[in-house]
Amino acid sequence: MKIFLFAPVLRHGSFNKKLIRIAHEIVSNFPEVQAELHEFNEFPMPVYDGDLETTEGIPDGVKSLAKKISEADAIIISSPEYNGSMPGPFKNAVDWLSRLNPVPLEGKQICLIGASQGYFAAIKGNFHSRVPLHVLKAYVYPDYFGVAYAQKAFDEKDQLKDPKQKELLQNLLQNFIHYASRTETPFDRLNEFFEEQKHQQHPPQ
Ligand SMILES: Cc1cc2nc3c(=O)[nH]c(=O)nc-3n(C[C@H](O)[C@H](O)[C@H](O)COP(=O)(O)O)c2cc1C
Repeated sequence: MKIFLFAPVLRHGSFNKKLIRIAHEIVSNFPEVQAELHEFNEFPMPVYDGDLETTEGIPDGVKSLAKKISEADAIIISSPEYNGSMPGPFKNAVDWLSRLNPVPLEGKQICLIGASQGYFAAIKGNFHSRVPLHVLKAYVYPDYFGVAYAQKAFDEKDQLKDPKQKELLQNLLQNFIHYASRTETPFDRLNEFFEEQKHQQHPPQ
């Protein structure tokens, strides 16, 4: 199973970049998972402008991002919230992607996670992020993991200070990949692995 991970943020010291790197480490340890992490800065794109689209076509950064999405079976995205909603750079990327035919997000399994410096762990913002993704017929995993007060949550090695948080993230990603691979046939060993893990964590009574 191919998983593409990115955080739609540009800031160098971004907490969402730290969180998506941790998510990448976690899923890279699952069997039969090929995880590919990219920085959003690798996909430069202007603010959507219909005139620019008409005169110059789809920007190269959008095409490259679309290729990564198309090649993946599942996508993990870590986004902050801006003013309680979906940040502009993320929405802008989704709007550009929606101009492609076929839309690369269609039919994709997506897991949203996030970090923000406020109390709500970017949950309000990512609730809004679900809307355009649903409109574009992506399948957004219902569960969510967020880091609140992100400025205090990471240590000097960019790991989550609280081991309980890492465990919650690991469980979410494990459940997401199990869910995302359910409908696929070539991932029997992956499913067996997750069943075993589940029994180890919650032995049948
Ligand atoms: C325009 C803007 C709006 C923001 N709005 C919120 C908000 O609604 N809730 C919140 O918890 N943090 C908010 N923040 C603070 C972000 O959580 C913080 O900048 C965070 O570090 C952004 O994610 P990053 O570290 O991945 O860049 C906002 C920041 C900016 C720049």
